[in-house]
Amino acid sequence: MRKNSIVILDFGSQYNQLITRRVRELGVYAELLPYHISPEELKKHEPLGIILSGGPASVYMDNAPKIHADILAMGIPILGICYGMQLLVHMNGGEVEQADKQEFGKAKLQVSAHPLFKDVENNSTVWMSHNDHVTKTPAGFQGIASTNNSNAAIADDQKKFYGLQFHPEVTHSQHGHKMIENFIFNICSCNKNWSMANYAEETIQNIRKTVGDQKVILGLSGGVDSSVCAVLIHKAIGDNLTCIFVDTGLLRLNEGKQVMETYGEHFHMNIIYVDAEERFLTHLKGVKDPEQKRKLIGGDFIEVFKEEAEKLKGAEFLAQGTIYPDVIESISINSGGTTIKSHHNVGGLPEKLGFKLLEPLRNLFKDEVRKLGEELGIERKMIYRHPFPGPGLAIRIIGEVTKPYADILRKADAIFIEELYNHDLYDKTSQAFAGLLPIHSVGVMGDIRTYEQPVVLRAVSTSDFMTAHFTPFSNEFLEIVSTRITNEVKGINRVFFDITNKPPATIEYE
Ligand code: XMP
Repeated sequence: MRKNSIVILDFGSQYNQLITRRVRELGVYAELLPYHISPEELKKHEPLGIILSGGPASVYMDNAPKIHADILAMGIPILGICYGMQLLVHMNGGEVEQADKQEFGKAKLQVSAHPLFKDVENNSTVWMSHNDHVTKTPAGFQGIASTNNSNAAIADDQKKFYGLQFHPEVTHSQHGHKMIENFIFNICSCNKNWSMANYAEETIQNIRKTVGDQKVILGLSGGVDSSVCAVLIHKAIGDNLTCIFVDTGLLRLNEGKQVMETYGEHFHMNIIYVDAEERFLTHLKGVKDPEQKRKLIGGDFIEVFKEEAEKLKGAEFLAQGTIYPDVIESISINSGGTTIKSHHNVGGLPEKLGFKLLEPLRNLFKDEVRKLGEELGIERKMIYRHPFPGPGLAIRIIGEVTKPYADILRKADAIFIEELYNHDLYDKTSQAFAGLLPIHSVGVMGDIRTYEQPVVLRAVSTSDFMTAHFTPFSNEFLEIVSTRITNEVKGINRVFFDITNKPPATIEYE
């Protein structure tokens, strides 16, 4: 909670996070809250403006989601987007009906001279996505923009209520950002005071206040979230933070070493390195089923973490790198949102380990966490690493997992990744790795017949990891990688390249 903020009330639109981010990108803190928030609770956030999001419902349906009527009387400017506009109309005595003709896609917007449209060109493109439309504007409102098809924007300048039928937050709406900017600065009079440098400073102070001279533990994986979280807390409380790094034996080549060098030596953090390879691999012996692998690894991880935490007497807090999308997804589900992401929780810790929780990144989106990491001086390469799943190589080795298999895969994977960097392709893919297939095929090296395993190269481009396209590479690049792997990794005599999208495939192999 902070002053000078914009609150977005969530009616379940798939674009909600985007609105929140747009506002933050403009330098103003924004939060996404459930639409059914009470006026008292809302007051605590002291927003300078409210945005009502879009959503899949229709205002005339029974049980249509509505804001508490008293919120309309709080004197705070409100901008309704799509469903949000229809709700403003409905709750102020206007009428909304199902349209004869739905309006999806691009439309041309005719605007009038209005503060909301300052510096917005006439006839620009906006993105429409609606079935319902306003048939009677409420008293006090007037139309301020239109498309061929509909009354596209309305305003009650006295009450400072505004409605946009289109989605200003998506990039297809040419001047959409400008309209959001006009709302938050010209109408709500917000100040630009949200930056990562401010956030870091403020959060470090808060951590000091919350933790005092008590001790904190944190499971450091080397991934972006846990690493940024660790560096932030370390800046606040120094040696009272202890990180636990569990080497499951299922990590990438030199991963443990890299984490110890970066965070132990460079940042001087206390890190307990737990070599648990034998324990994990012993439990995985003979196990082929992917879900059973996940369960065993998840269970072992928690046990190892607990054992180490118990050895460290006196830790009061458990720090976790929970980020904003994890927090708002659970709110969305409660408020009837339609985008529900399935969670992978392997490699995570259960909520009740008996510690107080410290989650300093819970207000941040992933790209903000990265910016914060850069602000804190973490090497770019560590911050922009592709995601790596909790069960690690175990779900990239199809079938049984053994140490020799993990060793082979680690080497092949490292070559692939190294070549991606060499060819300036790493940042152009969202996730790339090698997988090991449990089959043997015949090959020939020199004059000798081989009978060895293949690896498969997987690389995808995606914005949300829910759907993904395989990343196309040139034949020259693929040949370089394939030649190096078969030359340098004993045990591999073929290299495949996966050209499947998600769906139908998943990104990982198991
Ligand atoms: P899939 O394979 O489901 O992967 O298309 C989507 C994203 O989730 C990651 N992933 C996991 N992460 N534990 C994790 O922490 C898991 O069990 C797990 N399975 C998949 C995957 O790497 C990709 O980024």
